[in-house]
Amino acid sequence: MDLIEALAARHSVRHYTDKAIEPEKIQHLQQLVEEYNAQSGLHIQLITDEPRSFGESLLARYGKFSGVTNYFAMIGKKGDSLDETVGYYGEKVVLEAQKMGLNTCWVGLSYKKISSVMTINYGEKLVCLISIGYGATQGVDHKRKSPDKVSKTNVKTAPQWYKQGVACALLAPTALNQQKFKFELKPGNKVTAKAGIGFYSKVDLGIVKYHFEIGAGKENFVWE
Ligand SMILES: Cc1cc2nc3c(=O)[nH]c(=O)nc-3n(C[C@H](O)[C@H](O)[C@H](O)COP(=O)(O)O)c2cc1C
Repeated sequence: MDLIEALAARHSVRHYTDKAIEPEKIQHLQQLVEEYNAQSGLHIQLITDEPRSFGESLLARYGKFSGVTNYFAMIGKKGDSLDETVGYYGEKVVLEAQKMGLNTCWVGLSYKKISSVMTINYGEKLVCLISIGYGATQGVDHKRKSPDKVSKTNVKTAPQWYKQGVACALLAPTALNQQKFKFELKPGNKVTAKAGIGFYSKVDLGIVKYHFEIGAGKENFVWE
């Protein structure tokens, strides 16, 4: 499965079976975390066998997640670019997990923070979690905006790579499925991506920029 197939197959999955993630897959995920932390300066942590963040007692309150015992804690240094960087690198983790036959869900709100299982250094912040495991289902397709709603540039007359970038961005997860981002093609194959105003919209921006790069091909454009 390549990244385009992975992003098309991915849906948020909130219910997991009790099938454990195989040790070699955990090891591979740990390696990815190390690699992405080195590249980004983030402090992402994979937390395994920890059911309390999504514990039974919370189900009554949120009623949305079940069987979550493994998740990524998306932690990094406080600063203007933290949310976007978390989005970008978190989605790398999500799509690699999809390629490995695992399911995920970004979680901004519906969890309890268990500080004792993670390390949040001075000046750092936990932005959100990403649950991971074997889903009870593969999730479902959600309603998406049309390309012209998320692009200032007329998508119909835009180059093929830009169309594909926007198409892949539209398949990205966004908080509350809000899809408030906007792309624009500028002269010289420059592309701008802007976040709208809303809950976790800067995290969304990082996520959709990664999807855009996969669809458009990084060799075809530069971010402005
Ligand atoms: C930053 C972010 C935060 C999210 N927080 C939650 C959450 O707290 N609870 C939840 O059930 N889903 C959460 N989601 C999942 C979105 O609701 C989901 O991605 C969206 O509805 C689109 O569905 P899809 O991922 O299946 O394409 C979040 C997604 C993102 C990107």
